[in-house]
Amino acid sequence: MTQITMTRPDDWHLHLRDGAAMADVVAHSARVFGRAIVMPNLTPPVVTTDGALGYRRRILAALPAETTFEPLMTLYLTDRTPPAEIKMAVESGIVHGVKLYPAGATTNSEAGVTDIARVGEVLAVMAELGLPLQVHGEVTDPGVDLFDREAVFLERILAPIVEEHPGLKVVMEHVTTSEAVSFVENARDGVAATITPHHLLMNRNAIFSGGIRPHHYCLPVLKRERHRQALVRAATSGNARFFLGTDSAPHSVETKEAPCGCAGIYSAHAALELYAGVFEAAGALDRLEAFASFHGADYYQLPRNTGSITLVQKPWLVPPAYRFGESSLIPLSAGETVAWKIEEMDCH
Ligand code: NCD
Ligand code: ZN
Repeated sequence: MTQITMTRPDDWHLHLRDGAAMADVVAHSARVFGRAIVMPNLTPPVVTTDGALGYRRRILAALPAETTFEPLMTLYLTDRTPPAEIKMAVESGIVHGVKLYPAGATTNSEAGVTDIARVGEVLAVMAELGLPLQVHGEVTDPGVDLFDREAVFLERILAPIVEEHPGLKVVMEHVTTSEAVSFVENARDGVAATITPHHLLMNRNAIFSGGIRPHHYCLPVLKRERHRQALVRAATSGNARFFLGTDSAPHSVETKEAPCGCAGIYSAHAALELYAGVFEAAGALDRLEAFASFHGADYYQLPRNTGSITLVQKPWLVPPAYRFGESSLIPLSAGETVAWKIEEMDCH
């Protein structure tokens, strides 16, 4: 097959940042995706419905003129999020989830949750109102090896949450291990996961090939090859619990190429094309549409998109960098060839 036409996809996990930097990246997502779940880890974080409404307005204002892209907003959960805020969020109609960052787990997570016991009441209200919890699934315990933090999180934090709140919808964001895949496959209804293009394409050798590669550093960090293979199996399995979430996370080149470089990989410029390569290699191109365009919408109880998109096998060269506010960013596969290209979009 050299061409595939599918329903317009959505991105169920995206970082758009804010201000001039956002204006430089948002068009990459809007050109392909109908909607995106927009992460709230700004500085300061988006902790209220009012904050989400304001951020949404700024995103809409930064969009190219002829786009139908719709940002789906999230709130950043803190130790002090009042249960009443959850009610307001649901009533607003623009908030589609609440993000749990264990405090200190990743970029801009300092204001996150220090102890899951502190948010029990909020999780109960979310379960009651059907608002999904989006989880960054890594423990922050410095005594736990960095590569084990996801697997330990499943046991220590996620399993108890899922059991104590049987009605709560939980998305384990950007899963990176075979343990997380098994957890989601075997969990009760309402538990799902997103999978990024970079975790499908690379294993942890990519962080160290020929020298240290800051542009391949993200959180959760890339894992062993056997984990990558488990992710490819899950994504291409047709299981509706797994769906597309790029975790495209832009950082300026100087904050990545630094003595203490930031975590985050930028993939919005080529995300669907890269996923297509993974599905093709797995002999599962016929399952790309469900993963990219159906499973997430169904999970979030939103209508599937009606537009369509055509991908063709036509190699193109990824630029070495893109503008990013005052600076620039180095995208995933910079200077390399991507095999699939978007040929045609019909957004209606
Ligand atoms: C994300 C970012 O930069 O905001 N970084 C990352 O490595 N994925 C935060 C996150 O999703 O963990
Ligand atoms: Zn993320």
